[in-house]
Amino acid sequence: MKKEIFPPNPKYTEDALIGSMDAYWELQNRAKDDYEGFWREYADSKIDWLSPYDKVLDESEAPFYKWFTNGKMNVANQCIDRHLSTKKNKAAIIFEGDNGDQQILTYRELAYEVNKTANMFKNQFNIKKGDRVVLYMPMIPESAVVMLACAKIGAIHSIVFGGFSAEALRDRIEDAKAKLVVTADGAFRKGKPYMLKPVVDVALSKGCESVNAVCVVERNGEDIHWEAGRDYAYNELIKNESPRCEAEPMDSEDPLFLLYTSGSTGKPKGVQHSSAGYILWAQMTMEWVFDLKDNDTFWCTADVGWITGHTYIVYGPLAAGATTVMFEGVPTFPDAGRCWKMVEEYQINQFYTAPTAIRLLHKMGEDEPSKYDLSSLRILGTVGEPIDPPAWKWYYEAVGNSNCAIVDTWWQTETGGHMISPLPSATPIKPACATFALPGIMAEVIEKDGTPTPIGEKGFLCITKPWPSMIRTIWNDPERFEKSYFGDCKIDGKPVYFSGDGAMIDEDGYITITGRTDDVINVSGHRMGTAEVEEAIKKHDNVASVAVVGKPHEIKGEGIFAYVVLKSTPMEHNDEIANEFETVKEINAIIKNEIGAIALCDSMAFVPDLPKTRSGKIMRRILRSLIKGEKITQDTSTLEDPSIVDVIENILNK
Ligand code: WT7
Repeated sequence: MKKEIFPPNPKYTEDALIGSMDAYWELQNRAKDDYEGFWREYADSKIDWLSPYDKVLDESEAPFYKWFTNGKMNVANQCIDRHLSTKKNKAAIIFEGDNGDQQILTYRELAYEVNKTANMFKNQFNIKKGDRVVLYMPMIPESAVVMLACAKIGAIHSIVFGGFSAEALRDRIEDAKAKLVVTADGAFRKGKPYMLKPVVDVALSKGCESVNAVCVVERNGEDIHWEAGRDYAYNELIKNESPRCEAEPMDSEDPLFLLYTSGSTGKPKGVQHSSAGYILWAQMTMEWVFDLKDNDTFWCTADVGWITGHTYIVYGPLAAGATTVMFEGVPTFPDAGRCWKMVEEYQINQFYTAPTAIRLLHKMGEDEPSKYDLSSLRILGTVGEPIDPPAWKWYYEAVGNSNCAIVDTWWQTETGGHMISPLPSATPIKPACATFALPGIMAEVIEKDGTPTPIGEKGFLCITKPWPSMIRTIWNDPERFEKSYFGDCKIDGKPVYFSGDGAMIDEDGYITITGRTDDVINVSGHRMGTAEVEEAIKKHDNVASVAVVGKPHEIKGEGIFAYVVLKSTPMEHNDEIANEFETVKEINAIIKNEIGAIALCDSMAFVPDLPKTRSGKIMRRILRSLIKGEKITQDTSTLEDPSIVDVIENILNK
């Protein structure tokens, strides 16, 4: 199957936005010849400027690049108001609840809800331009409304995924110094209510001095603790607000949002995105990669707590004037046909999900897709991790009926939108391959000194020119920004953006992503820093040292595995087993508390020591090879105690 190439479906090429590889190269060459001219053309035609910008790209403070300097615009206007003259009665958001209930918001209704919420934030909570608002929200339309209301008045939102713990939420609130937290009582999952507000209560119980108020949306109606003077009911307050609200004129470079993500070291970093550049690329990629048509219904299954949800549930689809589906539930409830049932009912045209979901749905319901009419589907997308060929094949044949292009989109929280992806009506697709950089994106696979990596070999995946939707900085930590992204790879001595991923280019120029080269694990398409998990595990009294690595997992792609060195182990064999069992439980309880259930270890091994160099550095590469059952190719003679490798191997084999 490796050699097979899938050409675009000729049925769709004719009226496609980019309908051939020639058209692709024409655009890409135009960008190469006149980079600023290329971007100017799109900025001028796609963005509703309130006042014009003076420079396309300002590189004077590189790598703190600025785009469309001094231009004024507003992202909420870009996503809603400017569409009202032509699309006021079109569905903007289709919501499906966990229990199957539905709600449809037209662009006009969305405008009213956003305006009322924006007015509420100004009038009731005194939120001003530049203030930070943290969202700890379920997948309900109000999440999109609140994001856009922030954009409308120039507040910076920072969404914390609902699966993070109170500790993780507190860290993010404190780092952003948020003034307001917006949450919900809870929501529904697999037919049962779950809670969010109690987690906010715990997060705010110690610290979070910056927070003045908590605004609570009612979703599941469960009883919650109410702190008078701090907690406010969204559904009550909104009744008094006007549905008219002037958009705050925002500078192109004013931050639109922060989104915390894991790095290879230290605490999560607040990735800061801009207004104009971000929304421009969100819209352009939405149109190009999903070959968007006016009557399309687009469904991205991500959660708004991740970048995929930001860009391809809310900002991209709405900026492009599309109809976007928001789903509160999980793909396997009430059964593994849930997604296909929804595709049939809403006549979904583009379906965008993560390989981990595809593997799960494949495993749980191989024949489920055949029970539904999926003929509306034109494009299938994947994101977040490499997709394996068997999952690709099932997606292509069983879900797409061998009729749909699969766009394997490579990008990151930091890139804001897609970087490398097939174009559905242009690119001949090789399965499980992200193919080519999008027009305007200069992706290269290089060595650290900038020399191009030979064809077929693994190198560092870099983006060698700034692009409009790139991360602007790390909130509160510009030094870390420079070091994290512009510290490793240089071309002609000039630092270029290094993604942290490895990649390979084949003889046809196709780019295949080979995965992270750093200590970041990709669990079910979600990024987890090993250092964060290790910090949590070290909080256990009896843990002397620990190293966390990714372990291949059938569904999740990678699971979390910990090598733990305990301070003391009981002598008695039986006790030891019992003690280890208890310790595993205790360690996972700490992780759940410190980070959240998404960071739980799948398994762990108690080892007498870790392989360390004489200078004390843990040789993680050996630990990674050991867990994969690979042959150890590293030179172990430099280890302080080379015999430890065999000892650990024996423990793993038990
Ligand atoms: C990391 C970014 C971008 C949205 C979701 C994840 C991995 C992403 C692919 C792909 C192989 C991929 C990379 C990247 N990744 N897309 N199509 N093929 N790997 O965002 O949490 O910022 O993680 O996800 O390793 O660096 P994120």
